[in-house]
Amino acid sequence: MSNRVRKAVFPAGGLGTRFLPATKVIPKEMLALVDKPIIQYGVEEAIASGIEHIIIITGRGKGAMEDHFDHSFELDATLEKRGKSELLAVSRGVATLARVSYVRQKEPLGLGHAVLCAKELVGNEPFAVILPDDVIDAEVPCLKQMMDVFDERGGSVLATQTVEGPGISAYGVLAGSPDPANPRIYNCTGMVEKPRFEDAPSKQAIIGRYVLTPRVFELLEQTEPGAGGEIQLTDGIKALLKEEKVFGYTFEGKRFDAGDKFGMLQATVEFALKRSDLGPRFRDYLKSLAL
Ligand code: G1P
Repeated sequence: MSNRVRKAVFPAGGLGTRFLPATKVIPKEMLALVDKPIIQYGVEEAIASGIEHIIIITGRGKGAMEDHFDHSFELDATLEKRGKSELLAVSRGVATLARVSYVRQKEPLGLGHAVLCAKELVGNEPFAVILPDDVIDAEVPCLKQMMDVFDERGGSVLATQTVEGPGISAYGVLAGSPDPANPRIYNCTGMVEKPRFEDAPSKQAIIGRYVLTPRVFELLEQTEPGAGGEIQLTDGIKALLKEEKVFGYTFEGKRFDAGDKFGMLQATVEFALKRSDLGPRFRDYLKSLAL
């Protein structure tokens, strides 16, 4: 078994009902955050972390993602003819960003099932999972931080964030204790998907970045439907925990839930403010609103 994390799985088969009507025809992963589709942020993070092969789990009506990460002959030829070299570089850059494979998830059976769809393409090596809805702004890419922990500790690593209050029920939640040597690392003893607030074992919520050992595939094959009647990735990792070490990791950076309208608005404002071409004008505009 190779111990290098070379492949990243992007579950992107969901219906995106939280963004209807925008997502009736357009995959939610293709909604623009400023001027880039949400999923491209995750793919760029993976590539910047050293990932070589992107595996996108798609479904019916998700074809726009395949076109996005491919050459657009007509567009490129037109841009070339018009001498728009900067835009041509943007268009070509997306097509050459990464080696991308696609697997269709034929039934919406849950996140665990979506990850399982990548079993053959990943093979017997550790791999990453990126949930494209979670957009993370960080100096060192979040996945890179986690791959470093994986190399150091040799066990699966889940990104975590502290969530106060009843909001914790929207997440997978870890049980365990902080590592004495490194307070960012959490030694897991258990985990539960979307617990009631009263039952949450800690405030450590799982965020959509994982580095996993391939054993999880076999365990997911045996995982029964759990929360919401779906095959949950959290339940597969909980089974893994009986055989191997699993760590939580409080990453350095800021996470936005771009799968949620409010989170998407927050991300839009903060990403736009950071842009050199838009930021100063947008800041002045926001100030002028006299809120
Ligand atoms: C999924 C996972 C959950 C995790 C969350 C992070 O839930 O099942 O464990 O905490 O992503 O965003 P979803 O948001 O798909 O319901």
